[in-house]
Amino acid sequence: MNQNKKTIIAIDGYSSSGKSTLAQKISKELKFNYIDTGAMYRSVALLAIQKNVFNSDLWNSTNFIPILKEINFQFKWNKILNKTDFFLNKKNVLHEIRSKRVTNKVSLIARIPKIRDILTTIIKKFIRNVSNKGIVIDGRDIGNIVYPQSELKIFMTGSIEIRSYRRFQEIQKRGGLNSYSYEEIKKNILYRDRMDTSRKISPLKKSLDSIEIDNTFLSPEKQLTLVLKVIENIKNNRKKIKKII
Ligand code: C5P
Repeated sequence: MNQNKKTIIAIDGYSSSGKSTLAQKISKELKFNYIDTGAMYRSVALLAIQKNVFNSDLWNSTNFIPILKEINFQFKWNKILNKTDFFLNKKNVLHEIRSKRVTNKVSLIARIPKIRDILTTIIKKFIRNVSNKGIVIDGRDIGNIVYPQSELKIFMTGSIEIRSYRRFQEIQKRGGLNSYSYEEIKKNILYRDRMDTSRKISPLKKSLDSIEIDNTFLSPEKQLTLVLKVIENIKNNRKKIKKII
């Protein structure tokens, strides 16, 4: 990898395929920043719910979009919990944006071209302004649309059963199972996959130059080891090419 410029690692893939787990592990290991773009789309869905957009005639109207011009996102490393906190307009919404009502609505929000435009601009600004030596970004359209020049693109997948089971376990750990059954989780994941792959604008699609990781039978630690090896290879190849030139 280029030693003098910021290294961008794009991680796209299906819902609950372990993108953020891998992204956070890479960012910790390499001391890179981490941007969870799903959190941004989820926040917009949360705002839309709070503004009653889904229950009113305002849906699809121009009234909601101007609110997004003022939107403010912040990612902050939480040393105690050992994970990244996420703030929407200065409020920590890390848990709220993972609620059932937000999860059920977010893919509808993510289909609206104007909303994608605004969020893509914000994400690009994050990338430009980051002071660190690199960033790991996870989402659905990072490698194809947001930052096609990423040095490493990873596309994550896994069987629907394992993805649903892992999400089920995660929600169980948070104590949120009263509101979600395994079957409901599976249904929601399938629904979001369908919505995200079928939308006209920036659909979820494996880019030709990405590395696919199917983690059905692969632990997060093994995935990290694999990615670090790929990064090492990229670095070594760069050095060799430099020597030849
Ligand atoms: O990654 P996460 O599951 O939190 O993303 C929630 C939803 O946000 C996705 O199902 C998708 O509809 C939308 N999204 C998107 N583009 C991104 C990130 C997320 O459309 N770059």
